[in-house]
Amino acid sequence: MALLADGAYHSGEALSARLGITRAAIWKQVESMRERGIVIESAGKRGYRMTMPDDPLFPPLMNAPGCKIEYSYEMVSTNVRASELARQGAEEGTLALAEVQTGGKGRRERCWASPLGGVWCSLVLRPTQPPAEAQRIPLVTAVAVAEACEDTTGLKPGVKWPNDLLIGGRKLCGILLEMSVEAERVQYLTMGVGINAAQRGEDFPEEIRGAATSLAIECGAPVKRGDVLRAFTERLWHWYRRLELGGDSFYHEVFMPAYIARSVTLGRDVTVVSDEGTYAAHAEAIGGSGELIVRTAAGTTQAVWAADVSVR
Ligand code: BTN
Repeated sequence: MALLADGAYHSGEALSARLGITRAAIWKQVESMRERGIVIESAGKRGYRMTMPDDPLFPPLMNAPGCKIEYSYEMVSTNVRASELARQGAEEGTLALAEVQTGGKGRRERCWASPLGGVWCSLVLRPTQPPAEAQRIPLVTAVAVAEACEDTTGLKPGVKWPNDLLIGGRKLCGILLEMSVEAERVQYLTMGVGINAAQRGEDFPEEIRGAATSLAIECGAPVKRGDVLRAFTERLWHWYRRLELGGDSFYHEVFMPAYIARSVTLGRDVTVVSDEGTYAAHAEAIGGSGELIVRTAAGTTQAVWAADVSVR
């Protein structure tokens, strides 16, 4: 019932006329939304109103430069929606944005808790580089989010390889890249970004409370998510356009120093957990496709592509 997402009251009668269903069916839908954690107030004759966060992301109130926004209060996953739009031909810059995700996706097939208060969005990109080089884009995204957080709150998140943002060892932001490739060409890329922004500690599910943090928790003050989103899109286009034009030399000589300056992984002793096993290593460098180059205890150099890497 996207109709309720404008924050205004809608009477049961008006809703049933608009949607062509009975008032009992409206009530059922409202109950099902409440069960899914959406707060809906009802006030007698005035009807129903969806309680909006203090700083709604609702498009008329916000702006994300260079993006065409597809907003819905609730999505299963903004990545799923953005990929769907990309398959239908959506242009670069299309951004799926939601207040709440019911099936948020994390890296390595994990779930991503997405309660009210975060910035959950996925951007459709159509890079011209070959797939291996497109793997640089999530690293660029991580730097763009870190800069946006710094610009809006003064906080300085670190980047844990490949693209997690941490503050004090706790996760502030996760990034999920999904890429569609045909005949060695990138058809589209869906860049999912989940920023823990306005949540309080109790908003996180108990099992991740110790491991997650938000901008508001770290600042001890309210955070305007619209400002964070705007700053993120500005910083992202800045890096992304220069990467498209500048190729290898830009990546190695300009972007990499910015990434390394924020890295909390490079130069550290780490534990690598991958499908091939778990081992100790030293994180030495980042390769041309965003891979982590480590030196193992046996002294060999190895490229790590998909793994969880924690600092020892
Ligand atoms: C990670 O595991 O660190 C990646 C988490 C990515 C979460 C974001 S939230 C917006 C977008 N939609 C999703 O379903 N996932 C990404």
